[in-house]
Amino acid sequence: MIGVFDSGFGGLTVLDSLVKALPQYDYLFLADSARAPYGARSLDVIYEFTLESVEWLFDEGCTLVILACNTASTRALRNLQQLHLPKHRPDRRVLGVVRPSVEALAGLPPGAVPGRTPPSSATGVVAVLGTESTIASDSYGMELRKLAPHLELIQQACPLWAALVEAGELDGPGTEWFLRRALDPVLNSGRRPQRILLGCTHYPLLLPAIRSLVPAGVEILAQGEVVASRLKNWLERHPDQEARLGRSALRRFVTTDDAAWFSARGEKLLGRPLAAERIRLAACRTRSLSR
Ligand code: DGL
Repeated sequence: MIGVFDSGFGGLTVLDSLVKALPQYDYLFLADSARAPYGARSLDVIYEFTLESVEWLFDEGCTLVILACNTASTRALRNLQQLHLPKHRPDRRVLGVVRPSVEALAGLPPGAVPGRTPPSSATGVVAVLGTESTIASDSYGMELRKLAPHLELIQQACPLWAALVEAGELDGPGTEWFLRRALDPVLNSGRRPQRILLGCTHYPLLLPAIRSLVPAGVEILAQGEVVASRLKNWLERHPDQEARLGRSALRRFVTTDDAAWFSARGEKLLGRPLAAERIRLAACRTRSLSR
């Protein structure tokens, strides 16, 4: 199966695009809703939570896991790929969302490799909106400097946006206040971006409200389609990994919090019935047993 991980239900925006682009594969979606949002947590905690989730997905038979969560991609992916997998799971793969998103921001084709692919000659200003942790990591900045060194990047943290989405507060004056607080510095910096990336799985759910505050000429990129088209390309370039994936079009949804709550939210987002199950991750089980 392809495992898709997010801290909360926002990752369904990415799953939805993956399923549309690559419907033949089996998918297992895990939302660590009990511990979401991750965005203001420390590096160590984000790594620990992400590792537990990824290991659970491996144990359930996923050979490939997509970290749909930007916070996990920016804070945990490198250690997972460079330290954990080679030692404990050499036959499994974990991919994140930063590289594909930066390729899209820079207008590069999928599969660009820093050092091998000639950098993009694109110029201008682009922006990334993300959680505090994603922005503090400067992961987008580092990738963009390698792949498109002439593009200027504005990075803006959007405190509480993910929490508003988790709470179902997608519009209204309170939500607009928080949206403006993050968007105003981006739009009024004197360097108006031509493209804004929603660098968090939850933000596409705020798209109508964001769109109403952003001038018409500014392109807003959500990650679902970007990640799906890049994954398709990655699978073509990694036939050994592709051959291991199940093709029964299975869809399974699990959450670490209430299953009925998650199913209701997910159904609204995907526009079709969804029956989630509640699971307990290893550390949660240990903690509750020792209580
Ligand atoms: N899903 C996370 C991401 O894409 C954001 C939500 C959170 O803070 O947990 O960054």
